[in-house]
Amino acid sequence: MDLKIYKDKQEVAEQFSSYFADKQKDKDAFYVALSGGSTPKIVFDVLVEKFSDKVDWSKVHFYWGDERCVSPTDDESNYKMTVEHLFSKIKVPKENINRILGEKSPEGEALRYANLLEMDLDRVEEVPQFDLVILGMGDDGHTASIFPHEIELWDSEDHCVVATHPDSGQKRVSINGKVINTAKEVAFLVTGASKAEKVKAVVEKTEGSEAYPASLVNPALGNLLWFLDEAAAARLNQNPS
Ligand code: 6PG
Repeated sequence: MDLKIYKDKQEVAEQFSSYFADKQKDKDAFYVALSGGSTPKIVFDVLVEKFSDKVDWSKVHFYWGDERCVSPTDDESNYKMTVEHLFSKIKVPKENINRILGEKSPEGEALRYANLLEMDLDRVEEVPQFDLVILGMGDDGHTASIFPHEIELWDSEDHCVVATHPDSGQKRVSINGKVINTAKEVAFLVTGASKAEKVKAVVEKTEGSEAYPASLVNPALGNLLWFLDEAAAARLNQNPS
């Protein structure tokens, strides 16, 4: 596990962008699963402002780790956020953008997307392998859209599952734990003081932390990187910065 701790959200976004630009550099094709949430939003802004000419966007193939089951024009849509903050500002071939269709029936879409991943990506023991999965972590320890009350979805047979947000009841389509842990690299982007308690639990594996889906992230074949700001890292015992 590689823990990177930076001053604030802006610095996290800059460092992650630089890491991202570097990662795709020597590849002919780079398969990435994006996440929703507030940190990716600023990462996309920084990618556009400072790195748009350092990335060969035609080689980057975009997928999502999770999507809210709403239309692509809804403010809740992770795809819409990505269009506004990234795709509308860079030159990326349309066929490189593989969104989860949030407007379709969730069960059918989970199946369709799982098939798409199987066709497009290399597979390791039948599990599609991303070059990079970007994850956020919720205040409750959820990641992608696997929430603590449905933690069994992590080990589902299907590569993509239908999840339900615990408060709003909103349906989500999410990749499962096997797909996350088969990735060549997984990067958590976590910022803000509200995350400090769960960051400590998950990183230090404190008692009871197994209840948080984020604690199950453990890429067997690859690297796990945490991009944290000081506020999110504040409760760690060994603050390496
Ligand atoms: C989503 C997510 C989700 C998110 C976390 C953290 O679509 O909501 O992908 O897992 O990454 O809830 O979100 P923040 O970065 O906004 O705290």
